[in-house]
Amino acid sequence: MTAEKAGFDHFMLKEVHEQPKAYRDTMRGRISDDGRSVAMPELKMTAEQLKGINRVHIVACGTALHAGLVGKNVIESLVRIPVETDVASEYRYRSPIITPETLVIVVSQSGETADTLAALREAQRCGARVLAITNVVGSSVAREADDVIITLAGPEIAVASTKAYSSQLIAFFLFGAFWAQTLGTKSEAQVAQVLAAMEALPEQVEKILAQAELLKEVAESISHHSSLFFIGRGVDYAVAMEGSLKLKEISYIHSEAYAAGELKHGTLALIEEGTPVIALLSQEDLYEKMLSNIKETKARGADVLGILNEGHEAEISKSVDRYFAIPRTLPLLTPALSVIPLQLISYYASLALGHDVDKPRNLAKSVTVE
Ligand code: AGP
Repeated sequence: MTAEKAGFDHFMLKEVHEQPKAYRDTMRGRISDDGRSVAMPELKMTAEQLKGINRVHIVACGTALHAGLVGKNVIESLVRIPVETDVASEYRYRSPIITPETLVIVVSQSGETADTLAALREAQRCGARVLAITNVVGSSVAREADDVIITLAGPEIAVASTKAYSSQLIAFFLFGAFWAQTLGTKSEAQVAQVLAAMEALPEQVEKILAQAELLKEVAESISHHSSLFFIGRGVDYAVAMEGSLKLKEISYIHSEAYAAGELKHGTLALIEEGTPVIALLSQEDLYEKMLSNIKETKARGADVLGILNEGHEAEISKSVDRYFAIPRTLPLLTPALSVIPLQLISYYASLALGHDVDKPRNLAKSVTVE
């Protein structure tokens, strides 16, 4: 067992540390040697079919759905086609509007999640083309979808998904860039810029992982609380949801993710002296708004950890109690970096509380019942 964990205490920590490799493996062979274009030979859909799509539904569960929320941002930014995201267990019960021009993207690490599989079948029954993003070749989802993008994260053992989630983000970045290149919604130079920034991500993750210990103390202080909040705006809100789910599932501490601007519409009432707030600040154009939302929480006594971009420490540090800086990348790609400290905080909080990190109570790795 120890050997399988490659010297790490838990599979989760091992898998967190495997993310640079997972990013590299998922990108390998898909980005051209000159870094100017993306090739996705695995896709059976033709350029004509891709050009005919006028709406996208992204359907998944849990962490995979959170990857889908980032995927929505990627596709809408790069391709300018409207994207809806849906909880797989809700999808087929709400008569979704599906036409032959709808592309349904299902995201599933295991490829065996019953709700996701049912959504895939419903989408196909209604005439949509289904693209699956999955980590398991030969899984039910991979076999039944019309097109498949395999993430090369390698086997994920810990119940809490880490490297599978972040590799799903890489898959969305690749597919978004590929689609933009096919439609010409972004110039060759713009696509090349995205790809260059993507290729820098593995090293940037390594840099974050080298500072993992810095997050131990924050996690330990959080472990004494019964409730906390993750806040963010734009794509940071999607990452906040993932941070909150990760913490809940392995530390059993209640947390909520909030779009920072929504707090004042009710939830602010829950902030009291010492309530931990983790504020994501990766979107520099939203800094001003975020800082004013952080101020609202601090005025009620919140203890705020800011996850910010390197180079902005001086500007932000006055407004937060603690901060952790992540390397700079394009605003579109920040989730692939900002999620790493959140995974580590959850891990260390669970450890501090003495829980079974890899096998949290009440949960299964793959949920094969509806
Ligand atoms: C992630 O940490 C969870 N264990 C869970 O939300 C998971 O992502 C979800 O059940 C979906 O699984 P899948 O990706 O295998 O479909």
